[in-house]
Amino acid sequence: MVYVTRRATFSASHRLYNPDLSDEENFRLFDKCANEHGHGHNYVLEVTVKGTPRTETGYVIDLKHLKELIKREILDRVDHKHLNHDVEFLRGMNPTAENIVRAFWKILAPKITEGTLHAIRLHETENNVVEYRGEK
Ligand code: NI
Repeated sequence: MVYVTRRATFSASHRLYNPDLSDEENFRLFDKCANEHGHGHNYVLEVTVKGTPRTETGYVIDLKHLKELIKREILDRVDHKHLNHDVEFLRGMNPTAENIVRAFWKILAPKITEGTLHAIRLHETENNVVEYRGEK
């Protein structure tokens, strides 16, 4: 099994906030991430596809195809957006990195036809990284 990763970056703002809780509880849970008008991150996204290299090409997945898929399905919809307000597929969701990677997975997994989606990693800061490998 060979694992192939494509990296991409985007910038977006978000606010961590649970509308079912009081402002006080939100600030206790999310601290300054609950600030009313949100804050921004320079996200780094890594999408890993696994498979056996094809005899014909030697590729698990043509990285050009993966690059275009990530751009069309993810980056074009989240880059320079406010994740709480501007992104249809994140609507009604608290946009933590954990929830974002699961939403990205749902979109990308069925669209990857060369190899299989193995993992999605999202670096929210230099030190905080979340990884999702599907519901198994
Ligand atoms: Ni944040």
